[in-house]
Amino acid sequence: MRQLIDKLKANRVLSEDEFTELIEKASEEDREYLFSQSRELAGKYYGNGIYTRGLIEISNYCKNDCYYCGIRKSNEKASRYRLTEEEILSCCEVGYELGFRTFVMQGGEDGYYTDDRMAHIISRIRSAYPDCAITLSLGERSKESYQRFFDAGANRYLLRHETADEAHYKALHPQNLSAAHRKQCLFWLKEAGFQVGSGFMVGSPGQTARHLAKDLLFLKELGPQMVGIGPFIRHQDTPFAKYESGSMEQTLLMIGILRLMFPNILIPATTALGTIHPFGREKGVLAGANVVMPNLSPLDVRKKYMLYDNKISSGVEAAEGLADLEQRMEEIGYHLLVDRGDCKKE
Ligand code: 5AD
Repeated sequence: MRQLIDKLKANRVLSEDEFTELIEKASEEDREYLFSQSRELAGKYYGNGIYTRGLIEISNYCKNDCYYCGIRKSNEKASRYRLTEEEILSCCEVGYELGFRTFVMQGGEDGYYTDDRMAHIISRIRSAYPDCAITLSLGERSKESYQRFFDAGANRYLLRHETADEAHYKALHPQNLSAAHRKQCLFWLKEAGFQVGSGFMVGSPGQTARHLAKDLLFLKELGPQMVGIGPFIRHQDTPFAKYESGSMEQTLLMIGILRLMFPNILIPATTALGTIHPFGREKGVLAGANVVMPNLSPLDVRKKYMLYDNKISSGVEAAEGLADLEQRMEEIGYHLLVDRGDCKKE
């Protein structure tokens, strides 16, 4: 297995069979060996600095009905909200004061945010905070829509591919959605000029090691600036309520592999990872992650943006959440940076 890890480090890719073997068979010792390499690579590009992004959850309305997601259209128990332009701007104001230099506007696929409305919000943030990066995470839209957002001043777009395998995609989503179209959107985003973030859930229902290997190979083809992964966590009011959550160990292994594949990219230690284990995010950083995304959403909407059960930080103020993370990072020898946090060149 060590040979496979060394080969991955040297070539930055393996065959589908080799990836599958590594994912299925890596022992505790192999994983530690891999993490020592992945940590060193992250350190080579980013030292002990961890970038932060202020996450603003702008709406939990969604026209989609993804089987895993707590804000799916059919979940009648979800109490719906959307933020106004002024509310979003005041989140940015609070965030800037706290030292955030990237704002991520994330939401369900909510028709209220037309291209006009969204472009207006983006240009206001762009002129108020010329030194900040604006990241969007608003799902699938048209090529024209993406281009408008970029031209209005957004820099980055997060859209996880979720799973690269079409049959598995169909098992996680309603039949009107497809892996092919999701991938198409990612290539449109790149063409529009965005720095692109993709990713997937680990341990989603029906997922195999081979699916994960395919995810890695798709990412190699895409060439993203960021890859976000987290364990699948069930949500009680979804069709997947009874499925087991993904494991922290497998998520960490995937983070380590991603770091060997893409030494210089941005890899977040995600909220989902922090949710399945009290030290999930710290372990993520020690496996090669270099970004955290604390919540900047207004306190009164936090509990409504429940993608999965028990999501952490849903009851604390932005400042408190940030201070907690700061301390957690210091404890493992890292520190949060006040920086846009662009992807370093190779
Ligand atoms: N568990 C873990 N992650 C989830 N997401 C959505 N629902 C869940 C869940 N139940 C992730 C998806 C999506 C991102 C915003 O959150 O991967 O792209």
